[in-house]
Amino acid sequence: MDARVEQLNHPLVRHHLKALRDAGSPPAVFREQVRRLSVLLAVEASRDLPLVDQEVATPMEPTTVQQLRGRLALIPILRAGLGMVPAMLDMLPEAEVWHLGMYRDESTSLPVEYYCKLPEHDPADVAWILDPMLATGGSICMAMDILKRWGVRDIRILSLLGTPEGIAQVHRQHPEVRIWVASIDRKLNAANYILPGLGDAGDRQFNTLIR
Ligand code: PRP
Ligand code: URA
Repeated sequence: MDARVEQLNHPLVRHHLKALRDAGSPPAVFREQVRRLSVLLAVEASRDLPLVDQEVATPMEPTTVQQLRGRLALIPILRAGLGMVPAMLDMLPEAEVWHLGMYRDESTSLPVEYYCKLPEHDPADVAWILDPMLATGGSICMAMDILKRWGVRDIRILSLLGTPEGIAQVHRQHPEVRIWVASIDRKLNAANYILPGLGDAGDRQFNTLIR
């Protein structure tokens, strides 16, 4: 077992993957499942975030409480990563959100960057790359390079589905990075889509599937 990769082992994850994978789920249901599974990913990926003590006065007496310490940045990869943001912000309302735009060139399956909202300086302490699909790993590797140039020291990857070959590719280029996935699927097909997978995560969320 690779300690850098956590496939979520929770009955709720297995339960909610059913409607996510089901080709019959309409976009509204698909989006809800992305949201639900994102909550579960957020809980697992935040287990070791540092805390700092603070004092508050309850209506009864002063007491010591704890708050998350440091700046956490959410980095959704457009388009499909957008659907993971609302759930993450529910759990982490103070997080910063910095968008990266990438699409896979259909003929090569290589990522093409078309948007980067990151500032040049003042990197966040922790960055979570949000992308439902870790297929070949090309898009996430490109996002990792961008975040390292920004200077982030603790980068984490949160995806709904990954593949063994995509995860291996990410770790070849970025051996230290930790990855949370709801499921590690079987493999890629000849067009570099995930099997059994869920189809195209962007199209299914945004109802842009050309029939
Ligand atoms: C999808 C997905 C990932 C990427 C994964 O994006 O959301 O970003 O493919 O594939 P990879 O691991 O092989 O790089 P897509 O290019 O379909 O763009 P979209 O989100 O705008 O639909
Ligand atoms: N992108 C998707 O949306 N789905 C896949 O299966 C692979 C890449």
